[in-house]
This record gives sequence, C-alpha cells and structure tokens, in this order.
Amino acid sequence: MISIYTKWIERRFCKYEPLIKLCRLYYRDIVKEEIEAANIRSWDKILCIGGGSIPCTAIEIVRQTNAQVHVVDIDNNAVKCARNVVAKLGLHEKITVINEKGQDIDIEPYDVIHLALQVSPKEEVLQNIWSKSKEGNRIIIRIPRKTLKPFYSNITDDFIKKYSETIKSIPLDYKANTMGAILLMEKI
Ligand SMILES: C[S@@+](CC[C@H](N)C(=O)[O-])C[C@H]1O[C@@H](n2cnc3c(N)ncnc32)[C@H](O)[C@@H]1O
Repeated sequence: MISIYTKWIERRFCKYEPLIKLCRLYYRDIVKEEIEAANIRSWDKILCIGGGSIPCTAIEIVRQTNAQVHVVDIDNNAVKCARNVVAKLGLHEKITVINEKGQDIDIEPYDVIHLALQVSPKEEVLQNIWSKSKEGNRIIIRIPRKTLKPFYSNITDDFIKKYSETIKSIPLDYKANTMGAILLMEKI
C-alpha cells in the first residue's frame, strides 16, 4: 500500500522541477550512506532496480560519484516519466532507463546492484541477482523500518540465515521515515 502511494506521488511530482528537487533531498543522505557502505566509485557500473518516475537514487549516485547508472522498472509509465526527468536534468549520458523486471534482468555488466525499498517480490529478485553475480559484486537492499515491514515485500529470515556470511546489515544514520537499514551482500 505504501508502495502504491510512493508511486502515485512520484508520478504526480515528476512533471515539476521543484518537486523533483524535494524528492532528491529526501534521498540524498540515504544514498550517501549507501555509496560509502558499498564503496561505489566513478568507474563502477551500477544497476538500480525499481527507479520509479523520479529515479532519485540513480540521480544521487551520479551526482555524488559520477558513475554510469542503468535503471530498470517494471512499469512502462514510470520508465517514460523517468526518461523525461533524466533528460530535463541533463543526465541522459549518465543514466539509462529501461523497462524490465528485476526477476529476469541480466546483471553481467554491473558491479553494484541496488534494490529499491518497493521492489517486489524482493526475495525472488534478490535470488536472481545473487545466482548470477560474480566476485566483487555488491548488492544493496533497502529494508523498511520494523513497523512498516507488513507493507513491503521482504527478505525472509531463512534467506538471511542461508547467506549470513555474505550479508551485512547496516543501520542508517540518516533517519528516513520508511527505511530502517540496508543489507549489503558481497560476492567473495
Ligand atoms: C516508486 S519507486 C521508488 C524508488 C525511488 N524513486 C528511488 O529512486 O529509489 C519503486 C519502483 O519499483 C518498481 N518495481 C517494483 N518491483 C519491481 C520489479 N520486480 N522489477 C522492476 N521494478 C520494480 C515499481 O514499479 C516502482 O516504480
């Protein structure tokens, strides 16, 4: 339900630059912590799964690291809006937006894969990525606050237990009202 609301807000906001700026402000410090946690550098190739109509995570990654970012979204309307936003901000050489499902995507070209909070079914998407990932790949998974877990697709405790040696839970210093932590998975 929260995911539908977020989608709706982004869809309405994406036509207005001051509102796009507002969205970016919300994500700026969260993305800063994610960049540090996954050690994202300018030469890394990034894939953001679930970019929405305003792909703030991708925008902030580019602004903060100058890396090349591909964004996928399952919703073609969101993809169209996101392409307009990227063009409006003059970031079309840095950000490419594609209509695709996270469950099917080929991650071969990427070093870092980022999963938005609203991605669903999250564990299936993560299974797909993990099974195809190679040494050095880092996967960032946004986790909702405990009280909001029922409103999102979640990773099961069984999955976390199974891959516990490769998963780190990192609480966010920046207190976003929906996110509690990120999980960082690294293929070693
Ligand atoms: C509303 S956005 C929020 C993300 C935010 N704008 C950002 O930059 O981090 C989340 C998007 O995830 C997309 N999504 C959900 N599940 C997905 C999946 N399995 N594969 C691709 N996109 C997905 C939804 O269509 C939605 O547009």
